[in-house]
This record gives sequence, C-alpha cells and structure tokens, in this order.
Amino acid sequence: MPKKFTAASADKYVLYQRAVQSADQDVDFLIDTYKELRGRKPRHLREDFCGTCLLSSYWVQANKNNTAETYDIDPEPLTWGLKNNIEPLGKKAKRLTQYQEDARNPSRQAPDVRCAQNFSYWVFKKRAEMLDYFIGVQNDLAKDGIFIIDLHGGPESIQELEEETVMTDKSFTYVWDQDAINPITGEARLHIHFRFPDGTELTDAFTYDWRLWGLPELRDLLIDAGFSSANCYWEGTDEDGESGDGVFTQSEVGDACLSYVAYLVATK
Ligand SMILES: C[S@@+](CC[C@H](N)C(=O)[O-])C[C@H]1O[C@@H](n2cnc3c(N)ncnc32)[C@H](O)[C@@H]1O
Repeated sequence: MPKKFTAASADKYVLYQRAVQSADQDVDFLIDTYKELRGRKPRHLREDFCGTCLLSSYWVQANKNNTAETYDIDPEPLTWGLKNNIEPLGKKAKRLTQYQEDARNPSRQAPDVRCAQNFSYWVFKKRAEMLDYFIGVQNDLAKDGIFIIDLHGGPESIQELEEETVMTDKSFTYVWDQDAINPITGEARLHIHFRFPDGTELTDAFTYDWRLWGLPELRDLLIDAGFSSANCYWEGTDEDGESGDGVFTQSEVGDACLSYVAYLVATK
C-alpha cells in the first residue's frame, strides 16, 4: 500500500525527491558521458545547488573510489540530506562532504564532473553573473573535467500555467506552477505545490525566483567562459514518437516541441 500523505504531516523533501528528482538516472548520465568523452571513469564530483545531496549520495554508491563535494547556501536541505541521504550510507558517507557555501566558491578538490541540476543556476539573472559563474567553473575543473547542467524550454516553459502530475501510486499530485513570467526581463516566479487525495494541499512548498534562460544563449555563454565545447544532449522519443524515452544523446537538431528538458555538456 502506498504511504498515505496529507498536508499536515507530509515532509516536503520526501515529496520533492520522489516527484522531481531522478538522481540515479542523472548519475548514470554523468558517468556515461564522462566515459564517452574521456575514455575513463570519473572519480570526483562537485554538485552545485545540491539541496538534499541526493544525487551525490548515488554518486558515492556507484563506485568505491567515487568522492563528492556538495554546495548549497541553505542549511535546511543540507541538514535534512545529512540525516536522510548521507548518514544512512554508513562508511560510504565519508566520501561525501557538504559545504554550506555559495555555488560560486572554489572546490576543495578539482572535480572531474561538476553539475548543477534542476535549473538551479537560473538563480543568476544577469548575463555578467552567469558568465562569472561559468568562468569560475571552467577554471575550477580538473584537467579533462566536464560541466553538466540541465535546462527546460519550449513555448510552454514561458507561459503562466500550472502543470499537474499525479504520482503513479496516486499518493499525491505534484504541481509545477509557473506563476508570474515577465517576457521583458525573462524573470519568473515559480512554485511547487503538493496536493493530496484527502483534498489538502501543501501550497508553495518551494518557491523560485529565477530568470528563464534559452538553450542557445547558454551555449554561447559557456563558450564565452572559456569552455572548448558546449554541446546539447537531446532526449529521444518513444516508439509512438510522442513522449521522451529518457535517452539523451548529443545532437545539433531537436524537435520544436511544446516543452522539453535537455542537458548541456561543456568540456574544459
Ligand atoms: C531547485 S533546488 C535544487 C535541488 C537539487 N539540486 C535538485 O536537483 O533538485 C535549488 C537549491 O539552490 C540553492 N541555492 C540558491 N542559490 C544558491 C547559491 N548562490 N549557492 C548555492 N546554493 C544556492 C537553494 O538553497 C536550493 O537548495
């Protein structure tokens, strides 16, 4: 039986991790992409805007030689992640270190792979700020290091709308609320709500104040920051040609769909 959730008792980080993150798939993508580009396994990961460090917890479990350092300015998700994602790893937890610091701070150890997932780097709203972040990342990577970020786009991503996703076990509904979007500055106020079968709702469980960035302008910025390449990895489609198949491959041509998620992979 699925756990019964209700607004009064639900833990917003449990819901977020279930509804939003696919950390195991993300880690596979990071490792496979590094191996494809560099012909060997990556060892050290840096996860920016790490929240609860779920992704890094999968990274250190993927190989006994893997290590990770994670950065977030908010102590709340870091503390939650320490208790729920890191400490349960036992001895493996020693290979993962959290830092309650700005994502623009330098690494303790030069990473083979550095990532920023779920569009979190969109917190940087000015071109100069984003460029500065990317320059810092480029300088900070190990020799042969790569930087991987995700993004979403398509016409639906710049409209004010609410998108509801019912979990497959029907235990709750995840709501992505594109509440206010300014087409002139690209600034967006976005929320995540959770709705429960008993009619209760966790409203504004998470709120983001971001700029919506476009794929081509991010590629240009990465090259301006000194990366030698900045390639798009585009999702394939299922046999019906309608929905994504979860397989991302390097591509220069994509379908002009209403909504997409893609990765950008930049090499030092
Ligand atoms: C959308 S959550 C991302 C959580 C996780 N990375 C994921 O993939 O779902 C964004 C996180 O970025 C953090 N954050 C915002 N500005 C930051 C900054 N300048 N440096 C580090 N972390 C920051 C927030 O505290 C928040 O935990």
